[in-house]
Amino acid sequence: MKHVISAKQFDLDTLAELFSTAKALKKRLSEQKVVKLAVDRILMTVFLEPSTRTRLSFVYAMKRLGGEVVDFGPEEVTSRAKGETFEDTMRMLDGYAPDVIVLRSREVGAAEKASKIVRCNVINAGDGWNEHPTQALLDVYTIWEQLGRVDGLRIAIMGDLRYGRTPSSLSYLLAKYRDITFHYVAPPQLQIREEVLKEVSHHTVHQHSRLEEIRDEVDVLYVTRLQKERLGDENLYQQLRGSYVVTVDLLKKLKKIPLIMHPLPRVDELPAEVDALPQAKYFQQAENGVYVRAALLTKLLNLDISSLQSS
Ligand code: NCD
Repeated sequence: MKHVISAKQFDLDTLAELFSTAKALKKRLSEQKVVKLAVDRILMTVFLEPSTRTRLSFVYAMKRLGGEVVDFGPEEVTSRAKGETFEDTMRMLDGYAPDVIVLRSREVGAAEKASKIVRCNVINAGDGWNEHPTQALLDVYTIWEQLGRVDGLRIAIMGDLRYGRTPSSLSYLLAKYRDITFHYVAPPQLQIREEVLKEVSHHTVHQHSRLEEIRDEVDVLYVTRLQKERLGDENLYQQLRGSYVVTVDLLKKLKKIPLIMHPLPRVDELPAEVDALPQAKYFQQAENGVYVRAALLTKLLNLDISSLQSS
């Protein structure tokens, strides 16, 4: 594996290997701050769209592996603001010889484009509404950690499924496992995209406009925010804002309260009252982002992880 562009590119063996490394790293990094596996390696973060968790968890992952990090900086203080093309920026960055570039962009296909320009590894940290494969890795890792399995999972994915990139990548990754039941819950304007439905069509798939319509038990409820920046229509935003809110009352109406997950940031859809439930796992998800991304870096950079296995 040279580049990570899409969740579709992972197979079950690779996932099992990554999760096992992530688990070992999680244990080791709870005992010591840094494991020196990535000494003399440089990771570059290029975030041309806002981010907190994805950028910082990659930074922490690399630092805690003993590697170096260089940040491109906010777009407005770079030559991008002077009109430099994406291609020129990438060619120039490549000249500095980073080992891996983690790229987020508003543009669908940006990471793939970058991977054809630079010599180092490229990781897609979100390309517009399209995909966010490393978020899906940490989401599925968290499910596996919490439930001890992924096969047979019954999951409700709720919110802005049309403009969100986490529902698509999560669906692509889960589609690799056996016997998954997907419940896509969204107002009709925000339902899951056709191309995603195609990828999961060999599993059981239901669509609902409201959470209350789900009569069966589900293991996980994955909530996402309204992607205001991608709706492009203030009226539509105002109309849809608050149209789905997961309250404790609503959760209690379900057959069983499932694990509650969210890629974060949350806005109106997941009130803080839910945090007190033992099923709320979104902050664990964010923490797991560091270990899962560190595991991914060990694989992409061919780091020697034998010292992890011995503990
Ligand atoms: C997500 C994203 O950027 O797509 N955030 C994240 O990386 N955890 C979700 C979102 O912004 O809604």
